[in-house]
Amino acid sequence: MTRIIAVVNQKGGVGKTTTTVNLATALAAIGKKTLVIDLDPQGNASTGLGVEHRDRVVSSYHILIGSVTLAQASVVTSIPNLHVVPSNIDLSAAEIELVQEMAREGRLKAALESGADGYDYILIDCPPSLGLITMNALVAAQSVFIPLQCEFYALEGLSHLLKTIQLIQRRLNPELDICGVVLTMYDKRNKLTEHIESDVRGFLKETVFSTVVPRNVRLSEAPSHGKPAIVYDMNCSGSRAYIMMAKELLQREKTRISQAVKVA
Ligand SMILES: Nc1ncnc2c1ncn2[C@@H]1O[C@H](COP(=O)(O)OP(=O)(O)OP(=O)(O)O)[C@@H](O)[C@H]1O
Ligand SMILES: [Mg+2]
Repeated sequence: MTRIIAVVNQKGGVGKTTTTVNLATALAAIGKKTLVIDLDPQGNASTGLGVEHRDRVVSSYHILIGSVTLAQASVVTSIPNLHVVPSNIDLSAAEIELVQEMAREGRLKAALESGADGYDYILIDCPPSLGLITMNALVAAQSVFIPLQCEFYALEGLSHLLKTIQLIQRRLNPELDICGVVLTMYDKRNKLTEHIESDVRGFLKETVFSTVVPRNVRLSEAPSHGKPAIVYDMNCSGSRAYIMMAKELLQREKTRISQAVKVA
């Protein structure tokens, strides 16, 4: 079964794209057929996966307006098992163009109804807002994955995000759950990090991954080379964290399936 996971946080610069790109790469490296859908007009996930601008003529914008299929929009990357639906600035128009349309929050879900089953994992990189584009991701996904930057304002936006997720669960996607929260730009020498970690773990309990992503300059250098950090420098602390994160995700998925079997 295909697992569709939206990587969401309306706060900007918290590590959504870095997480999407590197977690997807780690899953692909483990042998999982993986697709990244770049649903951010900034196109950072496409850049991070080495897709040139000239190869973004067909993009996630066309998926949302329904003019192409998933297969037509996805391109291969240099990483085996990893495909991407790229994006570019055109996508910002979708927010306006779709306002008039019926079922505008369900466009991505409709597109995923054919072609998604060739993948084990689909990770959707969302923009830093809770607008219509992110709504499309939350309606299409089975689960939400939330990167949280270890900084003072981390928890401020979180309650708003959790309320939005509840609203989507009630109105549009009852199956939606949160499969994980992950702490990014973690600096264990910093007292504030320690404080935030204990608040977040106290509040969200086991939803929070035990794997944390350290602040690591290699993670920020890799996109300028058009490569995921895991390919750019597999041994840096950031890459190791994302490999651990993929393992933890797979372990949690196993537990989830066995719990579901028990309930059934
Ligand atoms: N663990 C980390 N250590 C150091 N730098 C990081 C780390 N994670 C991300 N960065 C850098 O921080 C910046 C923001 O990260 P990223 O683009 O992944 O965040 P984002 O949530 O996707 O941002 P946006 O909301 O704009 O889409 C980038 O320059 C990225 O390279
Ligand atoms: Mg991003």
